[in-house]
Amino acid sequence: MLIQKPKGTYDLLPEKARQRYFLEKRVREIFNIYNYSEIRTPTFEKTELFKRGIGEETDIVSKEMYTFKDNEFTLKPEMTAPVIRAYIENNLGNESPLQKLFYICNMFRRERPQAGRFREFSQFGAEAIGSSDPYIDAEMIILADSIIRSFGIEDSVIKINTIGTAAERETFFREFKGYLSGFLKELSADSQRRYVINPLRILDSKVQGDLEILRDAPVLYNFLNDETKRNFQSILDILTQSGIEFETDNRLVRGFDYYTSTTFEFVSEALGAQNALLGGGRYDMLVQQLGGKPTPAIGFAAGIERLLMVMEAKKLLPDSDDNLKLFIVSMNKECKKFSFKLADRLRKQGVKCETDFLGRSLKAQMKEANRSNSEYVIVIGDEELKNGTANLKRMSDGTEIRMNDFDNIKNYLFK
Ligand code: HAM
Repeated sequence: MLIQKPKGTYDLLPEKARQRYFLEKRVREIFNIYNYSEIRTPTFEKTELFKRGIGEETDIVSKEMYTFKDNEFTLKPEMTAPVIRAYIENNLGNESPLQKLFYICNMFRRERPQAGRFREFSQFGAEAIGSSDPYIDAEMIILADSIIRSFGIEDSVIKINTIGTAAERETFFREFKGYLSGFLKELSADSQRRYVINPLRILDSKVQGDLEILRDAPVLYNFLNDETKRNFQSILDILTQSGIEFETDNRLVRGFDYYTSTTFEFVSEALGAQNALLGGGRYDMLVQQLGGKPTPAIGFAAGIERLLMVMEAKKLLPDSDDNLKLFIVSMNKECKKFSFKLADRLRKQGVKCETDFLGRSLKAQMKEANRSNSEYVIVIGDEELKNGTANLKRMSDGTEIRMNDFDNIKNYLFK
C-alpha cells in the first residue's frame, strides 16, 4: 500500500512553495519596518510550558497537543509561550525594556481537519514584551492590518474586545454562572463542560441554542472597572485616529487562558467556517506565571494557510516571474559537453538557465524549453561548435539574435 501523508498535513508543491516564499518575504519586510526582530525557538518544548502557559483546561492543552510518549515534550501548538520562555531564559528584558519580536514557523494541533484547519500549520506573529502603553496595543493591530492590506485584502474585519483582569472576571463569573445555572440542561455539551472548568469560553459558542441563552446573559464589559474601560477606550481612540476601522465585540474571548484585557481577531468572509485570519491580545500575567518578573506584553499570530486561501479566492497571488532566462538545447553528446559547461558558466554569473539531462531529441528539448517558459533558447550543434556562433531565439516573438561570442553570452541575454 502507498504510504500517504498524515491526516491534517499537506505537501507544499513548488508553485505553492513559491507563493509561500513571496508571502513570508513581504511579512519579514513589514515586521522589519515596524522594528520587530526575528526569534526562532525549538519545534518542541517541555509539555509543562504549555500546560502552565496556555492553561490546562483550554481545548488546545486538554485535547489537541502532540505530546511524545514519555510525556515530557510537546510539539509547539503556538508560539507565545515559547517566546516568553526564551525571553525569560535569555534575560531579554535586561537587554532592552521593550522587546519587539516576530516569528514565522510551523505549529501542531491535533484538531479535526477541515478547510483552513490543519494539524500542522504555519503562523507568522509578533510579540511586544515590556510595555502596557495603549499605543503598543494600537501598534500591534496597525501592524497586523498593514500586513493583511499589503496583500491586497481590504475587506477583513477587525474585531476587538477587552476581557479585563482576572479579578474583574471573577465577579462577572459569579453573575454569569448564576444566570446560566437556570439553563444548564439546555446548554450544548461543550458549554456544560466549560461551565465547570472555563466559563469564559462559553461566550465563544457558535451553537444556536447557546446563542439564544447568551442573548440575555450578563455582559462582561459591565463588570470591568473604570480604569480598564478607560484604557480600552484609549486604544480604540488611537485606532480611530490612525484610520483603522474595527468592530467591538464583547463576546470575543479567544482560546487561551493567558489573555488579560485587550483581545482581537481579524476575520474574513472568504474563509467559511474557520473565518479567523489572525488573532491576538494582551497577556500581562504570562511572564510572571512562567517565572519571570511581572512584565506586560501583547501579541498576535496569523494563519499563513488561511491568508493564502483568501488571496487565492480573491486572485491576489502573483504569477511567477522567475522563469528560465535560457534553455540550452544540445544536438548530440559532444554538444552536450559544451552545453553543460556553458550552463555552468552562466549560472556562476547568476543567470538562471537549464539544459537537457534526459538525452531528449531536439524536438523534445524545444518542447521542454517552451513548457518551462524560458525567455531564450539556444541550439548547440556541430556547426555552432565549429564556428563559435549560434542563434539566440527569443521565445515570446521568435526573433533571433546572431551571437558570435559564447564567453559574453550574458550580454546578449540582457540586451
Ligand atoms: P490562535 O488564534 O490560536 O492564536 O492562532 C492564530 C491564527 O492561526 C488563527 O487566527 C488562524 O488563522 C491560525 N490557525 C490556528 N489554528 C489553526 C489550524 N489548526 N490550522 C490552520 N490555521 C490555524 C495563537 O496562536 C496565539 N499564540 C496568538 C497570540 C500571539 N496571542 C498573543 N500573541
